[in-house]
Formats: sequence, structure tokens, C-alpha cells
Amino acid sequence: MAVQPHFLLLTYPAQGHINPALQFAKGLTRIGALVTLVTSLSAGRRMSKTLFPDGLSFVTFSDGYDDGLKPEDDREHFKSELKRRGSQTLNELIVDSAKEGKPVTCLVYTMFLHWAAEVARAQHLPAALLWIQLATVFDIYYYYFNGYGDIFNNCKDTSYAIELPGLPPLASRDLPSLVLPSNTYAWALQMFQEQLEQLSQEANPKVLVNSFDALELGAMNATEKFNLTGIGPLIPSAFLDGKDPLDKSFGGDIFHGSEDYTEWLNSKTKSSVVYVSFGSILVLSKRQMEEIARGLVDSDLPFLWVIRDEQNKNEVKEEEEEDHLRACREAILERQGMIVPWCCQVGVLSHPSIGCFVTHCGWNSTLESLVCEVPVVAFPHWTDQGTNAKLIADVWKTGVRVVANEEGIVEGDEIKRCLDLVMAHGKTGEDIRKNAKKWKDLARDAVKEGGSSDKNLKAFVQDVGEGCF
Ligand code: UDX
Repeated sequence: MAVQPHFLLLTYPAQGHINPALQFAKGLTRIGALVTLVTSLSAGRRMSKTLFPDGLSFVTFSDGYDDGLKPEDDREHFKSELKRRGSQTLNELIVDSAKEGKPVTCLVYTMFLHWAAEVARAQHLPAALLWIQLATVFDIYYYYFNGYGDIFNNCKDTSYAIELPGLPPLASRDLPSLVLPSNTYAWALQMFQEQLEQLSQEANPKVLVNSFDALELGAMNATEKFNLTGIGPLIPSAFLDGKDPLDKSFGGDIFHGSEDYTEWLNSKTKSSVVYVSFGSILVLSKRQMEEIARGLVDSDLPFLWVIRDEQNKNEVKEEEEEDHLRACREAILERQGMIVPWCCQVGVLSHPSIGCFVTHCGWNSTLESLVCEVPVVAFPHWTDQGTNAKLIADVWKTGVRVVANEEGIVEGDEIKRCLDLVMAHGKTGEDIRKNAKKWKDLARDAVKEGGSSDKNLKAFVQDVGEGCF
């Protein structure tokens, strides 16, 4: 008798992984599968879990860092505990699910959790990686570890373009920061290396990418070794395909905000507001924050700025310095803007009053700007963000990229210059808005019935779930 396919979905405990994993899970339940979402307690107990559909269950395990990973914690110890305790949890879930008559069909895991594939192999189950960044960056890491490492290391000239098969020419500032000689996060680069090594050992590696074919045409099949499968954008349905109008947020926020801003946004005119957010990880220097404040105030545009509590705490530590930012904030609050600790970003981006997104170019934020047709001021910092900014500014042409000064600070004048370009009705702004509309339409085409991502997802389920349904 046919059974419902059952996916065990393991997500790394960070917002940038949880959000696409949740949307992937919702997509699977919509086509009749069961999903058990697994993450560590540190994230799980902070997650909102308000909108989990039928068919989606949630399991947490302690990785030994239940209060979250702190900057001073030993990364190697964290990695080995996550692997040891996570593997044990997955093994138990696989055994228990079989006993309950819901045998696991396939194990899917997000980046940095490649050991999950070993668990799957030992249990004779298929495994798939859910790559939560763009396909282009997957390819760059592949090239880096397969013959191009020296070229990247020697690329000191920021304007020199490196040609990689299937990808647009990339200067060093367009490469993921982890492959540059200046990288100080060796442990993070090692995680990518381990991930690629693990995939290389598989006869038929399955890599699902939160992207879509039209967006990264050359990149999906750029390397001879891997065929990447675009199944994105993984964005709440209400903002994308409307298949589930109630699906209006990811539903797994690990930060708490408020809805105070909704009324404020409602009071603004169409496309007039600048939304500013730097994702869930970055903590900017105080000097950089002051320059952003200056740029926003000088632009004279209304703005909504997300400043997470960690950023605020960081500033308190530096209190002995003259507090320009606090003074700026007061002026800001009175005059033109609103600051919140967190918001429903995809809801904000789809609000008609939003005219521009100043973003660090995390991959989720990048996709959300495309789906919501919001022009971008690209303000990348590290990891994949430089590559995302390159594609935004030069390939998809949905925004402009800021230029930092010699100290690596983006000055207020530069921020104002970019905002003027994007928000004004000059040629640059009009072209960007036209392109934003084009990419929104293509993103929607990809996920609708018969679109590339819709077909790819169904083919994947069919492939691993043979005999189910
Ligand atoms: C991290 C990396 O920094 C990023 O470069 C990589 O591509 C993914 O992993 P993060 O920095 O958190 O992610 O950025 P991003 O990928 O943009 O994810 C942030 C998520 O949090 C988005 O889905 C965004 O909608 C959400 N968010 C952010 C909110 O819901 N509210 C907020 O106030 C801010």
C-alpha cells in the first residue's frame, strides 16, 4: 500500500537557514508529504512556530549550547557536539518513525550539517542538501577547492575580473569573503570544504538550491561535477504564488519585534519609504551606524530601520565614546523615521509605501527584494553578500552598490548618493524599477504550476519518494 512520503528536514540553528527550510517544508506538505523539522534547542525554543501547517512536526535537540553560540565559544567543540548529538537525534527519529508507520523517505539538511548525509547513508536512506545561498556561490566554492584557490588568493587588484566557467566575470570584491586572503573565519571556510568533500563522495549527489533557473542560468550546471536543482524562491506563499493566502510570514522568527510600524507605514505615500536592515547576524561598528544615520537624515526620506538588540548592546559597551548615534536617533525619531528591533521583513517589503531596501544582501533578503519588486541599495559585508551585490547591481540590475572608503566605511554622503539614484525618477531609478518588475514576474513564473522550480520540486519528491502516494 502506498504511504505518504516523510521528509526529515534538519536545519542549522540560524535565521537565514530556518526561513528557507520552513518554506521548503510548507511546499512539501502542500504536495501531500509529511515533514519533521529538526533543529537545536537554542533556536527551537525562540522560534515563533505560529503558522506550522498540518503535516509539519517539529523536534528540537540540545547541542550543548542551549543559550546560543557566543563569539568566545570554541567553534570546533560546537561543531563536534552538534554533529554527535544531532546524529543521535536523527538516528532515533528514523527508528521511531518506522515504528509509528511513518518511515522516513529522505533526509534533507541545510548547509554546514553535511554529517547528516552519513546518518542517511548508514540508514540506507537518500539524502539531499538544501543550499540556502545562491548557486553562483556554490560554484565559486567548488572552483576554490578544485584548482582555482591560488588564482583567488593572488587576486589583489579589486578591479581585475576572474573568469570562471558558467559565471559572470567576478572581481575580488564580488567573491565570497571566505575565499579571499583576508578571511579571518577559517572555521567557516572549512565547513564549506567539508560539505563539498562529503558531496563529492556521493554517486548521485542531490543539491536543492533556494534559487530559480532563470535567475542563475549558467550557474545551475556550471561545474562538471554537480547539477544543482533550483526550487526557489522559498518565500511565504501570500507574497509569491498565492497558493496559500494565509502564509504571510516564515513563521519561525528567533527574534522578537512588534507590529508598531504597520500604522506608520500605512500613513506614508506609495514607494516613499526606505527600509534598512542588515539581517540576523551582522553587528556593525558604531562609526558605520553613525554614517548610515547621517545618510538617512540627509536624504530627507522617511525610513524604517531594523536595529537588533545585539547591535544596541554593542553600542552600550562603547558608551564612553561621544554618542553621535544616540543624538542622531532622537533627531531621526522626531523628524522622519522609525527604528524597530525586528519586523516581519517580507511583510514590510511587500507594503506599498516601501520604495527601496538598504540591505547587507543576505541571500534571503536578496530574494525577498526580488519577489516584492523592491529596488535595492546593496551594502554587502561578508560571506556570499559581495556576490549577491554584484548580481543585483550588474546582472539583474535591480539596484546600486555602495562604495566604501579606504577604511572600509560607507560614508553618509555615499549612502545619500545611492538613495538619490534609486529613489529619484531619473534614468537609473526608472531602469531599476523596470528590472525589479521583470525579476518579480520571473520569480513568480518559476514557482507557479509547471514553472521550473515547481517542476524541479515535484521531480525531486517523485525521485526519492518512489512507491509513495
Ligand atoms: C546569513 C548570511 O549572513 C547571509 O549572507 C546568507 O546569505 C544567509 O545566512 P542573514 O545575515 O541573517 O543570513 O541574512 P538573510 O539571508 O537576509 O536572512 C535574514 C532573514 O531574516 C530574512 O528571511 C529576513 O526576512 C528575516 N528578517 C530580517 C526578518 O524577518 N525581520 C527582520 O527584522 C530582519
